[in-house]
Amino acid sequence: MKLSVFSAKSYDRSYLDQVLTTRFPNLCTIEYHAFALSDETVPLAQASDAVCVFVNDTLDASVLHALHKGGVRAILLRCAGFNHVDLSTAEKLGLFVANVPAYSPEAVAEFAVTLVQTLNRKTHRAYNRVREGNFNIEGLLGTTLYGKTVGIVGVGRIGLAAARIFHGFGCRLIAYDPFAGPEFGQYGTLVELDTLLQESHIVSLHCPLTGGTKHLINESTLARMKPGAMLVNTSRGGLIDSAAVIDALKTRQLGGLALDVYEAEGELFYNDHSGEIIDDDVLMRLMTFPNVLVCGHQGFFTSEALTEIAGVTLSNLSDFAGGKSCANTLVTEGHVLVRRDTAPVRL
Ligand code: NAI
Repeated sequence: MKLSVFSAKSYDRSYLDQVLTTRFPNLCTIEYHAFALSDETVPLAQASDAVCVFVNDTLDASVLHALHKGGVRAILLRCAGFNHVDLSTAEKLGLFVANVPAYSPEAVAEFAVTLVQTLNRKTHRAYNRVREGNFNIEGLLGTTLYGKTVGIVGVGRIGLAAARIFHGFGCRLIAYDPFAGPEFGQYGTLVELDTLLQESHIVSLHCPLTGGTKHLINESTLARMKPGAMLVNTSRGGLIDSAAVIDALKTRQLGGLALDVYEAEGELFYNDHSGEIIDDDVLMRLMTFPNVLVCGHQGFFTSEALTEIAGVTLSNLSDFAGGKSCANTLVTEGHVLVRRDTAPVRL
């Protein structure tokens, strides 16, 4: 069996090769491609039985048809999010699609809290000052998290892990999640989205990007937030209308913005553009604000998570190859994702 891995970085190779050798020695041969899967690069998957992709690869109907025509029968997402896959086309073509639903929810949750505290206590600015011998702390004023209200949008695996950490800081926790289970009750109270927006000093996004959640944060929801509140997005960029957020930052309605994801990140993230002129005026404008912090989708990036991603990805392929049922397959019914381990998600 041949597996083509797209968007492969050195760390993907090293973790996948290690797991292949130690746990699945006879499963497949792997061909790595540094570039993303797209209409242009899909011919490289010819003669492969499976492809393995990450968050910014293209898996729309046209790419899926081309993959299928070339003989590919399985698509392995080495990520949790699946908003970039046309699942209904995949299903029509009979393609096996599986993700890695939970490689390290704590890694992403810890990163969300890291972003909040970096932005709040301005350690990124302090680091630069001190390196130049400037020990003046003016301009570095933050707020104490203890006693503040944190609103979590989406209390699945990552949202719950974030709730646990914020709870440890002594924050008051509220959450909005139309499909929430009982677990969040140990940290706080479930509320309607409007209440969350009105009461939260910090809003942290942890719901998936679907048709229903696209631009969940927009001009109208931003206007309903507590003035001066901080917004953190480690989920998917499309949850936020970036242009509306720029306006809210300019009017000071929004007091801070921490992003690990960005709606047009596919063009930029995971590659070095430092020697180029970047054409994305929205992102460039965002990065001029002193109260905005942008990272390049690294919330998942811990050695524990990479080990888990490689292990589950190859285990999914092994299930496919052996004709076994796989707990991580993504199957839709109408416009609803159904899977044994999660609540239904409306796409
Ligand atoms: P999950 O499936 O465990 O939890 C998602 C939660 O969102 C569920 O409880 C669901 O009921 C809820 N939800 C669905 N629709 C909602 C809505 N309209 N409003 C509020 N809540 C809603 O997923 P998990 O593992 O917690 O991941 C969350 C997201 O984090 C993923 O969809 C992915 O996009 C993102 N992610 C980001 C990473 C990074 O490196 N920055 C790494 C891994 C995931």
